[in-house]
Amino acid sequence: MTTHKIIVAIDGHSSCGKSTIARALAVRFGYVFIDSGAMYRAVTLFALRRNLISDGKVMREELISLLPEIKIEFIYNPASQKSDMYLNGENVEEEIRQLLVSQNVSPVATIAEVRQAMVQLQQEMGRKKGIVMDGRDIGTVVFPDAELKFFVTASAEIRAKRRFDELSAKGETVSFEEILENIQERDRIDSTRAASPLRKADDALVLDNSFMTQEEQLDWVIRRVEECLKFKV
Ligand code: CDP
Repeated sequence: MTTHKIIVAIDGHSSCGKSTIARALAVRFGYVFIDSGAMYRAVTLFALRRNLISDGKVMREELISLLPEIKIEFIYNPASQKSDMYLNGENVEEEIRQLLVSQNVSPVATIAEVRQAMVQLQQEMGRKKGIVMDGRDIGTVVFPDAELKFFVTASAEIRAKRRFDELSAKGETVSFEEILENIQERDRIDSTRAASPLRKADDALVLDNSFMTQEEQLDWVIRRVEECLKFKV
C-alpha cells in the first residue's frame, strides 16, 4: 500500500453519520480522525456553564473575550479506542452530546471569532496529513486543498430517527419531534450563517445515505479513497 498520506474532508448536514464514516475510514487507513463538531460543542458547553447563553441567545462579546481561557484537546481513550474531547482538562465527551448542547451549538458556531480559533487548531492538526476530519466547512474553509472531499446528506426525518435511536439507547428521554426540530433548525442556521456557511465544495463527492446501510456507505467511501491514493503514489 502507498505511504502517501492525504487529507479527507467530510462535510454535510447534522446527524447524517459523518462521524461514523470518518472514524471507520480513519481506522481503515491508519489515519487520525478529528470530529470538528466536538470542538464547537465544547465551546458551547463552556458558554452554557458560564451562563453566557439564555433562550438561545449567546452573549457574543463575553464569549469572545473568554476564548483564550478555553483549552480544547482530543485525548485518546484506550478503553473505547476513540479520542475523547477535553475541555480545560476535563473529559466532556458524554456531556457535549446531550440535547441541551445540540440545541445551543449552532448559534455559537455562527460567531466568526469562535470559528477562527477552531479553524486554526484544525489546520494545525492536519499539518502532517493522514487525517480524516468531519464538519461543515472542512472542504470549503479548513482544507480547501484536501485531496478528497465528501458531502454527506440524508433526509431530515431519517437523520432524526437515527439520532433518536442513538439518544434513546443511551437512556436520554427525548421526543422524536424535538430532535427533528433541532436538526431542521441547525440545518437552517448552518446553511444561512454569514461565516463559513455549510455548502458543498465544488469538488466534493456527494453521498446521500438515506437508503444505504453503514456497510454500503463505508465500502463506497473506501473505494474512493483507494482510487485517490492510487493516483498519488
Ligand atoms: O453530530 P452532528 O452532525 O449532529 O453535529 P456536529 O458535527 O457535532 O456539529 C455540531 C454543530 O457544530 C453543527 O450543527 C454546526 O453548527 C457546528 N459545526 C460547524 O459550524 N462547523 C464544523 N466544522 C463542525 C460543526
